[in-house]
Amino acid sequence: MSRPLLAARNVSKTYRLGRVNVPVLRGTSLPIADGEWLAILGASGSGKSTLLHLLGDLDRPDPDGGEILFEGTPLAGRSLRARNHYRNRSIGFVFQFYHLLPELNVLENTLLPALVGLHRWQYYRRIGELRRQATELLESFGLGDRLPHRPRELSGGERQRVAIARALMNKPRVLLADEPTGNLDEKTGAGILDLIVEQHRRGLTIVMVTHDPAIADRADRIVHLHDGKIDRD
Ligand SMILES: Nc1ncnc2c1ncn2[C@@H]1O[C@H](COP(=O)(O)OP(=O)(O)OP(=O)(O)O)[C@@H](O)[C@H]1O
Ligand SMILES: [Mg+2]
Repeated sequence: MSRPLLAARNVSKTYRLGRVNVPVLRGTSLPIADGEWLAILGASGSGKSTLLHLLGDLDRPDPDGGEILFEGTPLAGRSLRARNHYRNRSIGFVFQFYHLLPELNVLENTLLPALVGLHRWQYYRRIGELRRQATELLESFGLGDRLPHRPRELSGGERQRVAIARALMNKPRVLLADEPTGNLDEKTGAGILDLIVEQHRRGLTIVMVTHDPAIADRADRIVHLHDGKIDRD
């Protein structure tokens, strides 16, 4: 592989529960190429979500516990501002349980990442264009007639489509998705998978955690997480 777009290099992560140390990742290395669709499989508790959170800079490796690199440079060496930019602009994150904000409607939930860090004067200049962009994205996901609805008024599959639209709103380089079909029936899950296939076809790099080998089969590459390491590639 030429220089990976995103990589975990020898990453360790230990959780502390009271006086007990729970080592979850123990020197995990995983390079991800630009444009690749990677599926991460592993037993429950093997550390898949932990690894995805580290890749998205939602959590950090242990001190001296390796590093996450994006475009060849470690996240750890960057300023807070650059790390916020990485999380907000370079990465789109899809959570297993959607994590939509209940008080915001479908359009507002989707717009939210684009509003982060906007000054008031930028807001007034750009909000029209951003609303149009979010509306188009939601329409392309079959949610055009749902814009004013709150998440609680949506089905699971619709919520997950909103969560994916939100993750794509800032046109990220990488989509990190944690079991995006895990809570959906087969048909609804297949619809979500089609959206992901389409994004991949357009060149988006995708890292997807899944329990389902049938879903992983659609990916370019499958890795297995076992005993805190990537053990089959
Ligand atoms: N914040 C935390 N504090 C303590 N332990 C944690 C924390 N988060 C995760 N763990 C532990 O780390 C291990 C790995 O958790 P993780 O959520 O990464 O697993 P997973 O592979 O995503 O599992 P699943 O398939 O069930 O989602 C588990 O044993 C879990 O209990
Ligand atoms: Mg998990």
